[in-house]
Amino acid sequence: MKRILELFVLTIILAVCSANCLSNLHGRHYYYQCENVTNLQILSVIPIGVVGINIKNSNIKKIPTDAFSMHADSLEELNITGCGVEEIEPNAFRGLKLRVLGLVDNRIRKLNSLWIQDLTNLKALIVWRNRIAEVDAQLYDLLPNLELWDIAHNEMSACLPTELLKKLTKLRKIYLASNPWSYRCRRSMTWYLGSNHIRFVQDWGSSDMLIEECLAHEPNADIDDNALSKCVDRKVGSTEMLQTVSGLSEQIRELSRKVTELEIEVAALKKTGY
Ligand SMILES: *[C@@H]1O[C@H](CO)[C@@H](O)[C@H](O)[C@H]1NC(C)=O
Ligand SMILES: *[C@@H]1O[C@H](CO)[C@@H](O)[C@H](O)[C@H]1NC(C)=O
Repeated sequence: MKRILELFVLTIILAVCSANCLSNLHGRHYYYQCENVTNLQILSVIPIGVVGINIKNSNIKKIPTDAFSMHADSLEELNITGCGVEEIEPNAFRGLKLRVLGLVDNRIRKLNSLWIQDLTNLKALIVWRNRIAEVDAQLYDLLPNLELWDIAHNEMSACLPTELLKKLTKLRKIYLASNPWSYRCRRSMTWYLGSNHIRFVQDWGSSDMLIEECLAHEPNADIDDNALSKCVDRKVGSTEMLQTVSGLSEQIRELSRKVTELEIEVAALKKTGY
């Protein structure tokens, strides 16, 4: 029994020592940065009163229920970046008063109300580069203070519905790039954001206008998603082609100008007898 206890204590000590939590991140007291974490229990080594925790270069598949409850009174900012997080248990963030939650570069598939419900104070939800394909409809009721939402580089195809976005009355900025948003719903989503002074950052250039054009003039595009996508993609291709062609003719003009200059120089040299 004593031996087992010793082993247990030794394992804990090893886990704590091999994971490194350093204070004074960016010169700020009460901010900690942890690396090589495999078990969130080690966060109990961080002293009471910590305001920000940044976990990186770690391996944390699952965030269990009440994982951060020991720091519930003080923790306001939590980042877990590139740690392979796949599963977040219900009430993982219970009791916290988080203002910033960053779960960048993990393997999360869904923004689930079972853990979102513990985040009513949240101002920034930063979840870019995951595998998110689904957002619980309740999220919009659960985050009344959200100002910044970064859901770029995920797998969202169904747009964020405007009637739900309306509930995020404090939203000021949203990052949407690199998601396979469907063309049909994208227009109403971006129209809503634009007309409500919410800055949205996207990576589809001017193709929104091509969607409008296809809806107006392409046969069946108004009812058939496939016809709409084909039309938009075709037009995106042809505008790119036009740009390439005009770039090439610019280069040709430049080259012939140079050839003419050379010809004049050669003629001048001949005259002087060289
Ligand atoms: C994390 O582990 C790696 C590899 O074992 C090591 O090189 C690195 O120094 C560790 N980081 C910290 C902060 O201990
Ligand atoms: C968490 O990430 C956000 C956004 O990248 C950053 O503004 C904030 O300072 C980070 N906080 C900590 C404690 O690392």
